[in-house]
Amino acid sequence: MKENAVIAEEAALAPETVSEAFEQVVRGRRSVRKFLEEPVPEPVIEKCLELAVLAPNSSNLQPWEFHWVRTPQMKAVIAEACMGQSAATTASDLIVVVARTGTWRAHAKRMIADWPGGNPPKIVRDYYGRLAPFMYTQGILSVIGHGKRVLTMAVGLFRAMPREPVSLGDMKVWATKSTALACENIMLAARAYGYDTCPMEGFDSARVKRALKLPGDALIPMIISVGKAAPDGIYGPQFRFSTNEFVKRY
Ligand SMILES: Cc1cc2nc3c(=O)[nH]c(=O)nc-3n(C[C@H](O)[C@H](O)[C@H](O)COP(=O)(O)O)c2cc1C
Repeated sequence: MKENAVIAEEAALAPETVSEAFEQVVRGRRSVRKFLEEPVPEPVIEKCLELAVLAPNSSNLQPWEFHWVRTPQMKAVIAEACMGQSAATTASDLIVVVARTGTWRAHAKRMIADWPGGNPPKIVRDYYGRLAPFMYTQGILSVIGHGKRVLTMAVGLFRAMPREPVSLGDMKVWATKSTALACENIMLAARAYGYDTCPMEGFDSARVKRALKLPGDALIPMIISVGKAAPDGIYGPQFRFSTNEFVKRY
């Protein structure tokens, strides 16, 4: 694990500079509902996407896709599917973030085939060759998943067992969890580069899927609009309930 001090050292920065900058980025990110007409430079979006895929993700199976919408024609289609929200209609770019439940098998094979330097260790070959297929195969109508659920319940009486994913529904949660982490990376990266975002779930997923020709296993956890905040683009103060209310200490 890289300590803050190590990261700072590598970047030739004082640790407090790194943590202060990080806090500034996190505190500076707000959901912006109105953007200026200023386009976001393409390299900034490219950086956001490069950093998105560094998000931690389940088994490193990378169940995500990022559909970067920049042309006026496609932006108009997607913004309309976002119910014409101003966060979408005024954005410079829209990133339709897609979670895939059906790519894990191909990605598991690639984790072996594309292993850095070739020749992955046995533990890696076993994990992606045997354990991952056992964990993630659910079968048609989750029939294999149901079998695994019974097995898990039986074995789970005697020892700790992962209880999910044991259905196609669980696989949607599985893919969405990792993909949502990539979403946060995009939004924080945009802020770090001086741009703003709004995550949106208020959209017609059927229309977006049709417009982008997404495959049947695609889910859209969020569409992220990106741009430069208009002076009146933030609708109110950032407000949360007290942290202590949500933190349970043991
Ligand atoms: C999954 C998700 C979906 C959201 N959908 C919308 C949306 O459709 N439209 C919108 O204006 N804001 C949307 N938001 C933004 C939230 O309203 C916002 O994050 C929340 O009010 C807190 O404000 P802040 O992001 O400025 O801290 C969404 C946020 C998340 C995480």
